[in-house]
Amino acid sequence: MDRQVTVIVGAQWGDEGKGKVTDFFAGESNYVVRFQGGNNAGHTLVVNNEVYKLHLMPSGVLYPNTISVIGNGVMVDPKVLLQEISELTTRGIQPNLRISERAHVIMPYHIAMDEGLSSHQDNLGAGSTKRGIAPVCADKMYRHGIRVGDLLEPEMFKEKLAKAYDFNVSIIKKVFGLPFEQSVDDIYNEYLGYGEKIKQYITDTEVLLSDAYRANKKILLEGAQGMSLDPDHGVYPHTTSTNNTAGFVETGSGVGYNCIKKNIGVAKAYVSRVGISPFPTELLGDDGQKLRDKGNEYGTTTGRPRRVGWMDLVQLRQSVRVSGLTDIAITKLDILAGLGEIKICVAYDIDGQRVTEMPASLSKFRNAKPIYETLPGWSDMTADEVLTMTKDGYDSLPQTIKNYIEFIEKEVQCRVTIISIGPGREQTIIRE
Ligand code: GDP
Ligand code: IMO
Ligand code: MG
Repeated sequence: MDRQVTVIVGAQWGDEGKGKVTDFFAGESNYVVRFQGGNNAGHTLVVNNEVYKLHLMPSGVLYPNTISVIGNGVMVDPKVLLQEISELTTRGIQPNLRISERAHVIMPYHIAMDEGLSSHQDNLGAGSTKRGIAPVCADKMYRHGIRVGDLLEPEMFKEKLAKAYDFNVSIIKKVFGLPFEQSVDDIYNEYLGYGEKIKQYITDTEVLLSDAYRANKKILLEGAQGMSLDPDHGVYPHTTSTNNTAGFVETGSGVGYNCIKKNIGVAKAYVSRVGISPFPTELLGDDGQKLRDKGNEYGTTTGRPRRVGWMDLVQLRQSVRVSGLTDIAITKLDILAGLGEIKICVAYDIDGQRVTEMPASLSKFRNAKPIYETLPGWSDMTADEVLTMTKDGYDSLPQTIKNYIEFIEKEVQCRVTIISIGPGREQTIIRE
């Protein structure tokens, strides 16, 4: 990592392999910071054949000398966080963790409300992970949210909780007609208990990170989700509720990084999508099922089968633009092996027009038909061949993989400098 501040964001619909890429660079970072999202995210790391599944914990947690920070822009479910800490501790990893006192807390009524919202929004919803993300974000904007720091101040917490509980439980019962049994007192006591358990990690992470930045420490900001799920730039309303493009790092971590950052966009060699939205390059039927199984495209968070399709350069082009990407990491090239030919979407045909930039209009996006270029594929690689390629570097890759990568670079005008050909930390090539 040649720059002091590096940002890693998803360039597609999430699950691109951000966790793996973050873990790869985390050892060289002093801080790894989550700045948005919540436990709707699921990041899988594979190190020495051990598999780690993370939801809230930053993907630098496996390095003892790297400090993991959950920034103010993250939505924290303390129950899930404690579970993750306990799983890691059982496996001998002591998280070196700091949590922002300004981060918002996902409460039980948010999760109940997510259920009602998803049914109400139906086909105009996103197919939420039902972790309470939209409701907790709405409460933040309504200004009756509960923040992590509130869990340490019993009187303040009581006052805020009374308002938030009333509002949310009324909607759950009266608007959605759903039951909600937990009393305000039960929630109060339970969450004060969580506050007590996570107290040791809670701090002013804005000051912590600001001081680190001034002291020239290396900071890696780890995004969750992906650009097409960003509520401003993605396929709205089929999105999540926190911004995940690189522009949000300063808001979500509380530091104005007044420097030139390295912004890495992670893109899978194909595309996957969990949830509802039009998906122009989707592969259906047998072809889709084969790719889903080969790529093990089943959600880390919900276990849902992920929809899969060909790489979409209209989407990637937008990511490069919106997140000011300096670098692209392409993952899962090994999964496309053995296909003979590979399609790649370079533009959409929308009502007879060739469109190269993502339309804002949902009705146009619903009518978008992919325009493909077809490139020759590459053969399956054995574990030994992969190992040799990671040792010998980019030049040793099959020419057809290099053609695929260089085609993408030319189309989206951004360098592909990180190439991942397996889930393991070492199955990675850095291209200078
Ligand atoms: P994230 O949400 O962007 O962090 O991605 P996920 O962890 O949800 O999904 C990516 C999946 O692909 C994980 O199971 C990773 O272990 C795996 N993975 C990442 N890179 C590669 C790769 O290059 N090849 C293969 N075969 N698997 C990969
Ligand atoms: P990572 O960080 C893939 C999707 C959901 C749904 C929409 C809204 O692992 O890449 P939400 O629960 O946020 O209200 O759901 O966003 N979604 C993700 N899809 N990877 C994720 O995270 C996701 N986080 C949310 O499937 O379509
Ligand atoms: Mg994921």
